[in-house]
Order: sequence, then structure tokens, then C-alpha cells
Amino acid sequence: MDSVQGKDAEAVLAKLVDAMIAYEAGAAHRVGHFLKVHGFAKTIGQLEGLDGRTLFTLETAALVHDIGIRPSLEKYGSSAGAHQEELGPGPAREILAGLGVPGDVTDRVCFLVAHHHTYTGVDGPDYQILLEADFLVNMLEEEMGPEAIKSAYDRVFRTETGKRFCMRMYMGGAAHANG
Ligand SMILES: [Fe+2]
Repeated sequence: MDSVQGKDAEAVLAKLVDAMIAYEAGAAHRVGHFLKVHGFAKTIGQLEGLDGRTLFTLETAALVHDIGIRPSLEKYGSSAGAHQEELGPGPAREILAGLGVPGDVTDRVCFLVAHHHTYTGVDGPDYQILLEADFLVNMLEEEMGPEAIKSAYDRVFRTETGKRFCMRMYMGGAAHANG
């Protein structure tokens, strides 16, 4: 894979969806989850003007971010965030290597897999937008109440696009200037 932009990137991402559906066989809800997170992440990344390489990194991370759930359940009987962060990067690296994803992108994706339950030390737009996209989906899937949503909005959301989506979907509609 010479490039991670344009058609090459689209082709790799499609193969990654295929590989992740195979990885999550029998867990349709987790397939639905990562596809939704990917959809929000891609859209927010595009609207926030990410460059092609960062957008590809973000989209890849969104598709694999919860890859640690299955091994965590198998090893610990729990999908607690710390277990996912421990056990996610291994299978992520294996799948991405099989698809020819460049090493530096894979390293960053594995870092994001290992940190997607950590809301401090966010060091780039890929990390920030992954957190926002995961929250936008979890708010729906976990039926978060208004206080939990407001708290997550204040604590996690930083991009204008992510804040607008959260506002409009869960907080009564209009995004306001000061968040
Ligand atoms: Fe998630």
C-alpha cells in the first residue's frame, strides 16, 4: 500500500470492515456499533478538515476501537476498559498487518485502541474525534440520561462538529456558542 489516501484508502477500509465482521462473528451488535462509530468519525473528520492520512488513521481506529472486547470477555469474563486497552492492540496489529496498512499508521491506531477509554492527554484530532464518535453512539445504545449526556458533552466534546451533533441529537437541538 503506497498511499493511504483516495481509492487505496477506501479499498483498505472496505477490507477492514470485512475482516472486522469476521472477527466479530456472532456479535452483530458490536458490528453495528463500530459501523456507527466509523460513520460519525468519518463525517466529523471530513467536516473538521483532517488531512487524508489523519482521516485514514481515524477511520481505521474507529473500525477496530473495540477489538479488545472479545478477548477481554474470553480472558477475564469482563469487557472493562482496562482489559480492552490491554488486549485490543494485539489483534488490531495482526489484522492491519494483513491488509498492508503502513507501520506508523498501525502504531497510531494501536495507541488509540489502547487509549479510547482515557479522556485525558488527548494529543491529536484523530484521538479527539474517536472519543466524540464513540460517545455519540454510546449515548444512544446505552440510553444515557440528560445529566450523563451533559457531563460527557462538557468533559469530552471539543470539535465544533462533534459538539453540534451532540447538541442536535441529544440536547434539545440548537448548538449554542459557549457549549
Ligand atoms: Fe465503542
